[in-house]
Amino acid sequence: MNGSFANCPEWLAELIVNSGGSVSFHQYMDWALNHSEYGSYSSGSLKLGTKGDFVTSPSLGPDFAALLARQVVDWLEQLQQENFNNLPLSLIEIGPGEGDLAFDLIQELEQISPEITKRLELILVDINQGMIKRQKERLSNICKVPIRWLSLDELAENPVIGVILAHEMLDALPVERIILRNNMLFRLGVKLEAINSHSLLSFDELPISSSLLDSLLELENEVGIKIPPDGASDGWSSELHIDMNQWLDKVSKTLIYGSLLIIDYALEATRYYNNSRQSGTMMSYKNQYASSDLLKDPGFCDLTSHLCLETLLYYAQKNKWLLLGHTRQGLALLALGLAERLNSLQKLSSEQLDIALSRRESLLRLVDPAGLGEFRWLAFEVNNQEDYIKSNIGLKTRFLTEPDN
Ligand SMILES: C[S@@+](CC[C@H](N)C(=O)[O-])C[C@H]1O[C@@H](n2cnc3c(N)ncnc32)[C@H](O)[C@@H]1O
Repeated sequence: MNGSFANCPEWLAELIVNSGGSVSFHQYMDWALNHSEYGSYSSGSLKLGTKGDFVTSPSLGPDFAALLARQVVDWLEQLQQENFNNLPLSLIEIGPGEGDLAFDLIQELEQISPEITKRLELILVDINQGMIKRQKERLSNICKVPIRWLSLDELAENPVIGVILAHEMLDALPVERIILRNNMLFRLGVKLEAINSHSLLSFDELPISSSLLDSLLELENEVGIKIPPDGASDGWSSELHIDMNQWLDKVSKTLIYGSLLIIDYALEATRYYNNSRQSGTMMSYKNQYASSDLLKDPGFCDLTSHLCLETLLYYAQKNKWLLLGHTRQGLALLALGLAERLNSLQKLSSEQLDIALSRRESLLRLVDPAGLGEFRWLAFEVNNQEDYIKSNIGLKTRFLTEPDN
């Protein structure tokens, strides 16, 4: 890890110099993705989809949203039954990327339940202007439901009743990286070096901060996750999602009552913080190419890491989220009717053979156990009503049931 150097763009060199020549990996990742002018999401340089830098399930076509819509309608109908003085129902997406999921979901919801759609508003939350601009373009033709773009803080000031989706958003949260050196833990940083009058980036090993140590201790004492694991060798490194606790806290305050569905890459702690996983899970993506070179082309690549399942569950319950359940995407989509959808492709006419084949391929990709099918779907609910009685809650969650035969 110490040996790699990468060219540093001028904007980043200036920021690092102004910060004393070295910054935490967390700060580096935040700038590389979210810096207001140069970050890969905020500048809009990163594109999602088969013709972009990387694909996500919704960017493969509308089938993913069509299946997910069944779950969203189920939850919204349950919320509607609670009446809430005819307050609108909200569908909130955090981190909507190109806006594909929101766009396709709204079309499908209109088909499945025009009644719910009449009472629905769409709220999109993104921190990056470059993405918001593209979402506005993508969604400009939707006129059946009102759309608002809000920050989590704005939403928390006027909480709503509804369903929140966070699809491949948490994996973009900046992480702290730690490294084991001579039996001591260090905080990984990124520093600037001038070599032959070139500004180069390389990794740095900084003293561990007290807040990081506190997080590690909390995870060990409360969840039993030992980081580093016993037997980890010199140079072992991994990531910590230190912003996840605060994110779950903020999100829980945006709902009066409703559910949160997180869909993302996640690993059990024993697989994540394992001594055979020498350098964590972080990857960089650009032009459909995955690389472990995390310092290359900052501001033009995606940087992403898996979530730790138990850490997420722990922070969720700490912030009033009640777990409804979790499963892998393959099983979730089967429970929502993927097999029938695959079968229905046979009904397409022979002129539509190309469409049928490409949809078939996308559907199979969504459940491929070696790819997107391995994603985790985690459902939670929160109830902030004053008269809320704990024993009376529990939104029924269709994707956790056995698939229909
Ligand atoms: C990997 S893309 C996911 C896009 C989309 N959900 C999909 O699956 O196609 C991550 C998205 O999350 C946004 N994002 C990153 N950090 C965020 C945060 N803290 N709050 C809200 N959005 C965020 C990015 O700007 C981008 O739109």
